[in-house]
Amino acid sequence: MQEKIQIFDTTLRDGEQVPGCQLCTSEKIEIALSLEEMGVDVIESGFPISSPGDFKSVQEIAKTLQRATICALSRAKKEDIDCAAEALKPAKNKRIHLGIGASDVHIAKKFFSTREKVLEQAVWAVEYGKTLVEDIEFYAEDAGRADKQFLATMVEAVIKAGATVVNIPDTTGYCLPGGYGDIIKYLYENVKGIDKVTIAVHCHNDLGMATANTLAGIMNGARQVEVTMNGIGERAGNTSLEEIAMILKVHKDLHMDSGLDTTKIFPLSQRIAQLMNMPVQANKAIVGSNAFAHSSGIHQDGFLKHPENYEIINPLDVGIPVSSILLTARSGRAALRHRIENLGFSFDKNQMDGIYDRFLCLADQKRMVEDEDLLELISNR
Ligand code: KIV
Ligand code: ZN
Repeated sequence: MQEKIQIFDTTLRDGEQVPGCQLCTSEKIEIALSLEEMGVDVIESGFPISSPGDFKSVQEIAKTLQRATICALSRAKKEDIDCAAEALKPAKNKRIHLGIGASDVHIAKKFFSTREKVLEQAVWAVEYGKTLVEDIEFYAEDAGRADKQFLATMVEAVIKAGATVVNIPDTTGYCLPGGYGDIIKYLYENVKGIDKVTIAVHCHNDLGMATANTLAGIMNGARQVEVTMNGIGERAGNTSLEEIAMILKVHKDLHMDSGLDTTKIFPLSQRIAQLMNMPVQANKAIVGSNAFAHSSGIHQDGFLKHPENYEIINPLDVGIPVSSILLTARSGRAALRHRIENLGFSFDKNQMDGIYDRFLCLADQKRMVEDEDLLELISNR
């Protein structure tokens, strides 16, 4: 049996915080609708108190979406919680995501407070939020660097106060997979009532560990992943939705299911990159332009004999129509023949040898040999 992993997308909140990525309300609605269509369970649509524009976006998304839970971010403050509840009013399914720092560094150097006072504030915020919206997710900010015992005390207290989901963020991207997995395991072993709530993992990519840490979290019992499209987010970004979705699809041995229609991933990734003016790096897993492109002779030959030799994902599964065979100076005869045949030509071995020699000279001068170059090579034979 496959266990369902809740997909919480925060492209419109953690992702949109990135400088230059700001979106207008209609663009946010478009993305929210696409995420809902893809099957995302929870859409964090903004931080209503942060600006009137963000308030409006959350409100409009709340009016528009029918199935997904609409979530709004809040600090553990009355004015934030009131504002989030107000923006969420029209939503069919709504959640407030509120929280406070859990690490000693945040407690002392951000809140200038004490563990006791922060704990009190956390419990108060959950109880107050609960009077306005039933579904309250609590985030223990910087949980990745928090003292485990204190974190467990905080998690237990907010569960008792009525939180439905408890998020254990690695806010600074500090953790390594083993350590982050151990935090989740420790909580499951030491927090009373933890089986009544969903534990969420929210990881940042400062050390390139976001996806690995998220995976470690769910392998140790967490059942909600907080992700963004293309991995955008504060600083080095968040765990990317497409990586987690495809890990769960490829590794059936994990017995976990995202429930997403993964064929919608690539078109949405492209649209978000365009709207946010944030290009996807070419070698980005799953959605980069090179993710399904083969360029060295050995790989091209193996791929053309059977795609599974060099591809673990069928590109159609992420909405990419075909893999590409790129022609560079590292390409072999099999790739060149394949591209020439795709153009509708066929040559015997001797003819191909001649074309291949001329192709290599051209490829040494030009980084990439395109179809027009091939047509010229063929016609000048
Ligand atoms: O990284 C973080 O801790 C956050 C919280 C607001 C959940 O984004
Ligand atoms: Zn975050």
